[in-house]
Amino acid sequence: MSHYSIKKLLLGITGGIAAYKAAELVRLLVKQGIEVQVVMTEAATQFVTPLTFQALSGKPVYTGLWDAGSSKGMAHIDLSREVDAILIAPASADFIAKLVHGAADDLLSTLCLARDCKLMVAPAMNQQMWNNPATRRNIKQLHHDGIDVLGPASGDQACGETGMGRMLEPEEIVEQLLARTQPKLLAGKRILITAGPTIEPIDPIRAITNHSSGKMGYSIARAASEMGAIVTLVSGPVALATPAKVNTIAVTTAAEMLQAVESNISGQDVFISVAAVADYKPQHVSAHKIKKSDATLTLQLQPNQDILATIAARPDAPFCVGFAAESEKLLEYAEQKRRNKKLPLIAANIATDAMGKDASSLILLDDHGSHPLPQAPKLELARGLLQHIAAMLDNTNKKESS
Ligand code: CTP
Repeated sequence: MSHYSIKKLLLGITGGIAAYKAAELVRLLVKQGIEVQVVMTEAATQFVTPLTFQALSGKPVYTGLWDAGSSKGMAHIDLSREVDAILIAPASADFIAKLVHGAADDLLSTLCLARDCKLMVAPAMNQQMWNNPATRRNIKQLHHDGIDVLGPASGDQACGETGMGRMLEPEEIVEQLLARTQPKLLAGKRILITAGPTIEPIDPIRAITNHSSGKMGYSIARAASEMGAIVTLVSGPVALATPAKVNTIAVTTAAEMLQAVESNISGQDVFISVAAVADYKPQHVSAHKIKKSDATLTLQLQPNQDILATIAARPDAPFCVGFAAESEKLLEYAEQKRRNKKLPLIAANIATDAMGKDASSLILLDDHGSHPLPQAPKLELARGLLQHIAAMLDNTNKKESS
């Protein structure tokens, strides 16, 4: 089943060598639970046969304006009305020019002109064609007309040249498609997220830290922003790129993280505490490197303040969400944490299954019980968690207004 707002997609394939990559694209889209209707231009059929796409999509492929099979005999209208979005991949320079001018001389260009849904194009062409002033003007016009342009990428081209114009890889196209079609369930909501580990210094060289990669927190920040939220991310040291449109504040220690959270918490609707905050820090930080000796060395540790519990206890506390990474008794310990920290929602997982990995699974615990999010890439889990939060916020609003 698809998690996304986009359930039916029309994939338009135009004439270009990258048409062979569209086969993998169809496979990936179908794997996401998306129903794919393929429409090819006459030129595209010179590169790959419609039969290939019929086999992969499980649906007849349309190629011409006069194809039989449309329910009311108006294929160009019917096909564009039956889908949530249209994606053209590969989109040739010629097809992009047609879109810009509103040409309607074949089935694909006609249904694009007749559409009332989102249109995205993934250009694929020789680098000279991409850099030609005519294409530059056309791409600008597509943006102006509200048509999303995915890519292209730069690199080796089928013609032997190197440069801008390669179609994005199918995986990247699927990722961008899903990002751009997320329902704006969190439009205008302000969300503060902590992510990554904290590092507690022992001396100028050494420190206490943990294996958190920050991937879950960063995925949540990205997914929240794609769902329309205004996101602030307070992050411990990680090796990840800052998500687009997310205000990121870099911190090192738990004390710095607490301070950054406290100075940004006012006016937030939601606080999601994903960071693996060190529970203890050395009582004394040595100003100089501790020299070794034959004697044993004892480090005195003192507890760090619990950031999540501190925020949840505020009179103006936002909707607070915790994470519980456990190595045993997952549900029991996670529910205990939820109650102790007075949280409406906690996301539980087995630490060794999650830390540093790209995929994981979560169990969401709230007043109504447990809601599993099965094994999936962290970005997908993030979307599932945020959908759950959006539904809980919605219910709270409904209760308050009745
Ligand atoms: N947390 C926090 N500040 C701390 C410790 C934890 O904000 N000093 C938050 C984490 O971000 C997470 C939740 O509290 O959302 C639970 O963290 P976890 O480390 O699983 O639990 P602890 O409360 O630290 O308990 P324990 O280490 O004993 O399991």
